[in-house]
Amino acid sequence: MEIIIRKTIKDCADIAAKIVAKYIREKNNPVIGLATGTTPLKLYKQLIAMYNAGIISFKNSTTFNLDEYVGLAPSHSQSYHRYMNENLFNFIDIPKDRIFIPDGMAEDLRQTCIDYEAKIKACKGIDLQILGIGSNGHIGFNEPMGSLSSRTWIKILTQNTIQDNSRFFDNAEKVPRHVITMGIGTIMEARHCMVLACGWKKAKAVKAMIEEAVTAKWPASALQFHQRTTAVIDEAAASLLSHKEQYAWVEKNQLDWQSYETPSKGK
Ligand code: F6R
Repeated sequence: MEIIIRKTIKDCADIAAKIVAKYIREKNNPVIGLATGTTPLKLYKQLIAMYNAGIISFKNSTTFNLDEYVGLAPSHSQSYHRYMNENLFNFIDIPKDRIFIPDGMAEDLRQTCIDYEAKIKACKGIDLQILGIGSNGHIGFNEPMGSLSSRTWIKILTQNTIQDNSRFFDNAEKVPRHVITMGIGTIMEARHCMVLACGWKKAKAVKAMIEEAVTAKWPASALQFHQRTTAVIDEAAASLLSHKEQYAWVEKNQLDWQSYETPSKGK
């Protein structure tokens, strides 16, 4: 795994935006996987700024979101449809018919999951999947002790995640119990994964993802088997890591074309 540690969440957003921009600029029809939650908000702001500055255009891009709550209409204030519109899509030039988000209101939830996988395949897979990480190590909404090769499906949130996400609802009771999420197997097929993690609350999960044994107890640890994962983490989230010097050494010794700091490089 490639580990990039930066001082603040803003510094993380800056480099994450450069990684996304590289795909948008260099690929003809980039397919980007998107996450919601607090962590990517600054990244999305940065992408909007780059779009406004004429540095990137999303008109040839396709996006697939990781997940959505079951039973929340797109207009619901906490639906991920609404989150994406309010934090990214309303401000960029992505064609509406190139945006895919699981349909948590579908009459046939199982079929909608199967169709979602088929749509990803029809687009020839995901070039770059943006991920956050839960304090319990979930990616997407793949909670601990689930399959590490699951596909897009309906999952039940743990009480830990319901508690974490209750900050967005009036109380924990209002947080839906069910979600549709890309599976770990789906995520593992993305050609490049970029995990963003910021803040002390994520430190244990980050340690487990990067430096401990692969286990269903910490679903993000499956990324150790991924062909190309970049973890962009702030100093607080990196605080429990034991090999920070090694990660800094690797970054310092990257060849020019491996660096993300120069937009035209980093292939
Ligand atoms: C969101 C998602 C989740 C979040 C994770 C972290 O689409 O899939 O895995 O990335 O729960 O959420 P925040 O960023 O709010 O801490």
